[in-house]
Amino acid sequence: MCGIFAYAGTKNAVPLLIEGLRSVEYRGYDSAGISVIDSYGEIQTMKRGDHKSSLENLANAVGDSLLSGLVGIGHTRWATHGEVNQQNSHPHSSNNGSVSIAHNGIVENFIELKDRLVDSGIEFQSETDSEVLAHLVGNAVASGNSLREAVINAASQIKGNTAIVAVSTAEPDLVVGLRVGNAGGIVVGKNDDVAVMASDTIALLPYTSEVIYIEPNEVVEIEKGDVRIFDLAGSVIDREPIVTSQNFEAAQKGNHPHFMSKEIAEQPEAIQGAMRGRADFSNGTLTLPEISLTSEQMRSLDRVILTGMGTSLHAAMFGASVIESLSRIPAYAENSSELRYRNPVLGPNTLVVAVTQSGETADTLAAMEHARSAGAPQGVVLELEGSQATRIAEFTLPIRAGQEIGVASTKTMIASMTTLLQLAVVLAETREAIDSDQVKVIVESMSELPSLVASALGINGQISELSERLSKFEDLLYLGRGAQLPIALEGALKMKELAYIHAEGYPAGEMKHGVNALLGSDMATVVSAPQNDLYEKMLSNISEVKARGGEVVAIATEGDETIKRVADHVIYVPECPELLQPFMTLIPMQLLSYRTALVLGRDPDKPRNLAKTVTVE
Ligand code: M6R
Repeated sequence: MCGIFAYAGTKNAVPLLIEGLRSVEYRGYDSAGISVIDSYGEIQTMKRGDHKSSLENLANAVGDSLLSGLVGIGHTRWATHGEVNQQNSHPHSSNNGSVSIAHNGIVENFIELKDRLVDSGIEFQSETDSEVLAHLVGNAVASGNSLREAVINAASQIKGNTAIVAVSTAEPDLVVGLRVGNAGGIVVGKNDDVAVMASDTIALLPYTSEVIYIEPNEVVEIEKGDVRIFDLAGSVIDREPIVTSQNFEAAQKGNHPHFMSKEIAEQPEAIQGAMRGRADFSNGTLTLPEISLTSEQMRSLDRVILTGMGTSLHAAMFGASVIESLSRIPAYAENSSELRYRNPVLGPNTLVVAVTQSGETADTLAAMEHARSAGAPQGVVLELEGSQATRIAEFTLPIRAGQEIGVASTKTMIASMTTLLQLAVVLAETREAIDSDQVKVIVESMSELPSLVASALGINGQISELSERLSKFEDLLYLGRGAQLPIALEGALKMKELAYIHAEGYPAGEMKHGVNALLGSDMATVVSAPQNDLYEKMLSNISEVKARGGEVVAIATEGDETIKRVADHVIYVPECPELLQPFMTLIPMQLLSYRTALVLGRDPDKPRNLAKTVTVE
């Protein structure tokens, strides 16, 4: 969602702000803008609300202009209040032009604040909720407050999670950032004569790898080569930078046409990353040193709740299925936006495991906060270390897939699944639900996982033809059972988000209870049916679809000749132990949606209306 980048230094900030915004654009955006303080000490703002072309158009516009300055703020907007256009793009200015702000989050009480400001004679230029902040900060500066005090004052009047950056002509060397709650992070860094602030660590990497994460209810000032952090009462906070492990090259497309194709291809390495230092293939053992629970605590667990949103929820569903089947602890996965509001019964014997690649998803963070306040032990499975989720959870299991830029999650899902499988094994062994010989067998099979996934990736050929075929349908059904259900749901989600084809994921056993009414020649069905205990049931489901004139694409185990007799098309994946089958069947689901998106001329890296990091609920 919205992204922030701010610069205070000795070079012209304008091209640097554009570059900074390019680093955060992957979060998802539809508008872009910058404000700089020029050599006369005036604020100059340029912005564009041209959907996906906004940043390119802004870059061209600033390139053709004389705009320059040493201090500035930039923003990529993902519209919530007010349509996508230039006026609604950030930054927003106070009426006298002395303050400019950019904002992530939602001002929940903006109507009330706007009415009050309008009554006092303020003229609004946009339909956004965020513009109230520009006027509140502008008023507070006009009353003699410093920019820092003014930003704190404005934030104290609003309801909702917020991250703000602001500049003022009264303090032209300074950028102030403030964070309340979870509306996306703020991270700062400096080198000799430059200081930078952004919503994403990656935007800071051209300047420094030593970064400081700003916590909720903190305010930060950056000025040429200087960073100062305060609490909202004005006390100085002394915080040492940490060295980030993220690297800039990993976030480049290389020779791939899209980030998504690169990230799909990187999955064997992502799995290796998730197992590094945890699975010992020579001894057949597995440890997760990051887990802070004692063995006694793990033994006394009576329930595991996994939570997340979207693709991360599907990884969580896979996690629940392997945790329950291996460790015999009742486990289920629940959508965080439901978990956070339904006042679930939680306590010291319920382990909550959040799955979130970004560590910033608003609903997931809220569910985690709820679990923390209910006293449940909690872990998080994530990619982006340093994100807010790591600070809420008791322990963090990094998935180490490398930063994912494509909006569609692919390698982070497979790395989350790998991490959750390892968690399941550790819980099961600690609780003596499996013994060391069984662990050895699982670890040995996991050692094959990267190469199995690599060979599953080799099926690209068949996928192209099938994608042509699927692109002709307006409705698709995805079916699975057991550990294949989350994979079917993920296949449907990917097809919706990338190809914009209506796709439903269903438990195959549910068909007779309503779904069958949809079957016919105008809907194709994708069935995940590797050879396992539920295989025969899946064959019956395929026959039911065929009997009603439906076309079936089956994802099946290599060498399965039977399925060819019932399905219209078969995509084969490598044979492997049942525990690993979801890793195999996931690959064709990803490739089918990627290829179908291309057939239909969609941009798989930036699907419409979606954001990579969903920082508002
Ligand atoms: O950053 P998170 O993993 O918490 O994101 C949750 C969802 O927004 C995300 O998984 C989304 O569904 C995928 N990017 C879709 O491909």
